[in-house]
Amino acid sequence: MNEGSSRGEGDLVALALEARNKAYVPYSHFPVGAALLAESGQVYTGCNVENASYGLSICAERVALFKAVAAGERQFEAIAVVTETMATPCGSCRQVLAEFGEGELQIIVADPEGQMEIYTLGELLPAGFTSKDLPPFR
Ligand code: THU
Repeated sequence: MNEGSSRGEGDLVALALEARNKAYVPYSHFPVGAALLAESGQVYTGCNVENASYGLSICAERVALFKAVAAGERQFEAIAVVTETMATPCGSCRQVLAEFGEGELQIIVADPEGQMEIYTLGELLPAGFTSKDLPPFR
């Protein structure tokens, strides 16, 4: 399996699980892996990367999203996130995902044993703040 070739939910979870093995988590010991499917069909993975200055740590979801945007992607179908506790993305990651995804983006949370639940971004971030809420540029 590689980053570019998978589409199904199970495959996306498998890629997120693989990415989780790369997590740099000396402080929390809570590894997170993410795999983001772009409309192009490409998959971009991420893991959390922590820092001794704790607040500079970055979540797996944002690593995956920023990699994708830096590769030229703007539209996304789904993101799989694997944690020990099937955690849903934090509020910051929901907000950052909302910049590029309408409420329809699928958020698949899973654990290493393969249990999964599927949400939409709209469910996890109802009435979110987006560029539509800004006044026109002057
Ligand atoms: N973390 C993520 O990577 N994604 C989330 O949505 C929630 C939290 C990371 C941040 C930190 O490295 C560790 O999990 C514990 O909070």
